[in-house]
Amino acid sequence: MNVHNYFLIGMFLFLTIGCQVSHQEDSQVAVGPGGWLKGNSDEKFDEVAHQLGGFSRTMVEVGYRYSELYWAGQDENWKYAEHQIEHILEAMEDGLKRRPERKPSSTEFMEEVLPKMEELVDQGDKAAFLEGFKTFTASCNQCHNQEGEEFIVIREPQERTSPVRFR
Ligand code: HEC
Repeated sequence: MNVHNYFLIGMFLFLTIGCQVSHQEDSQVAVGPGGWLKGNSDEKFDEVAHQLGGFSRTMVEVGYRYSELYWAGQDENWKYAEHQIEHILEAMEDGLKRRPERKPSSTEFMEEVLPKMEELVDQGDKAAFLEGFKTFTASCNQCHNQEGEEFIVIREPQERTSPVRFR
């Protein structure tokens, strides 16, 4: 081997080892206030995924929006009702991305029941909305039964708990 070849091998080793070291250093940097997000990139993503929560987190949001939708209909505040339907849809889509094993039980709710509620809101007929809301509630419970969560029984709210008032 001549000097030229040694030089090339040296450069090769320098670059590969150098890249590995800098890659490791880069991905191990703790980030976030106080450096709470630690570890390599995979560990950080795992932690963030955990922080986003599972289906229970989704359902706490859906439960709140379900009640708000009910009172929006009672108040004939159709824009607020539309707002809640959009956000129920979004929360469900995100939740199902995180927990795809729940997807088969969600089909009827996502493809039939929720679009039907949207139609009723567009129509703005309070009596029809309240009638449709019964099917909506039944659909929540149907999925809970299918998913082995039959002890989580949803009923139309009796009292307002949110500070949002239309009248
Ligand atoms: C895809 C099926 C599915 C549909 C549709 C569904 N749920 Fe759920 N729900 C679940 C599952 C599964 C749980 C338990 C989640 C867990 O513990 O991980 C749950 C839990 C809940 C909880 C308890 C959350 C908690 O942890 O405190 C509430 C409240 C709730 N659902 C409300 C609703 C309402 C209201 C609807 C209808 C608008 C609805 N759900 C529709 C599957 C569904």
